[in-house]
Amino acid sequence: MSAALKTVAGGAPPRHFLELMDIEPGALRRMLDLGTRAKRGESLGQPLAGKTVALIFEKPSTRTRVSFEVGIRQLGGQVTTLTKGDTQLGRGETPADTARVLSRYVDAIVLRTDDVRKIRELAEYATVPVINGLTDISHPCQLMADVMTFEEHRGPIAGQVVAWTGDGNNVAQSFIQAAARFNFTLRLATPPELAPPADLVAWARAQGAKVELTNDPSAAVAGARCVVTDTWVSMSDEGEATRNRHNLLAPYQLNARLLSHAAPDAIVMHCLPAHRGEEITDEVMDGPQSVVFDEAENRLHAQKGVLLWALGLA
Ligand code: CP
Ligand code: NVA
Repeated sequence: MSAALKTVAGGAPPRHFLELMDIEPGALRRMLDLGTRAKRGESLGQPLAGKTVALIFEKPSTRTRVSFEVGIRQLGGQVTTLTKGDTQLGRGETPADTARVLSRYVDAIVLRTDDVRKIRELAEYATVPVINGLTDISHPCQLMADVMTFEEHRGPIAGQVVAWTGDGNNVAQSFIQAAARFNFTLRLATPPELAPPADLVAWARAQGAKVELTNDPSAAVAGARCVVTDTWVSMSDEGEATRNRHNLLAPYQLNARLLSHAAPDAIVMHCLPAHRGEEITDEVMDGPQSVVFDEAENRLHAQKGVLLWALGLA
């Protein structure tokens, strides 16, 4: 299909939410403003009345699935959710064919997959917006909630220092994109073997982003206003030998000692699910600096902004 044919009825191409790097900062800010209004209790009305969103999960989910299902319903829409065993995608039907079929039934598609090539193909052939619900290389919906959470607790994120400790995984890679889009300094401490991709870091720096890489978690965390970590074994890593990851990542654990290097009012974030006692200790996760459950709640609010933007309603 030619690019010219891949348009919706009004002629405009669908607004896919695949990567933060693809989206203008002003549009991202509009989405967050909507999310903040929703969180404050302002009604966003029923703009999804008469619309249906398909959620496809090729990997497990608690937060992403429930927050999208609830958020879509609160905005007046309908939702149909498919897990891996439910779809022909799981039996080898191509993402392109899936996209062409679902585009005739629904108004938007959210996909969680462990292979970014699938969501790119889906988006290439869909005539409705495709939203990234996590891939092996990114988790942009998470970052919308994370930026919203930082700003809720500490004000504008621009110019602030955020520290990441642990694996240079999909969430870390979306943090790099967010640093470029929201103008904060990001210091990532990872083992050399698990550093984020050099081309992504180069892209962010070329955008003017301050992205600093180190193998020393204390140096990354020093003076930071926010400290973030994530699981040592992501869903796309399952099946790999994981013992070596645990050995490599043990020095990067977010514990009270490491957090003591941050700014005294630093907040702690984790996208969840957490593996308590591995990447984060109970003391930190349940401590006064932790905002992890606000962060989880904000998935619901921030994604309303994402949905309204993707559907051309914001
Ligand atoms: N943070 C996040 O995406 O959680 P789920 O895997 O539960 O969706
Ligand atoms: N990095 C984690 C995030 C889960 C929400 C994973 O991909 O499993």
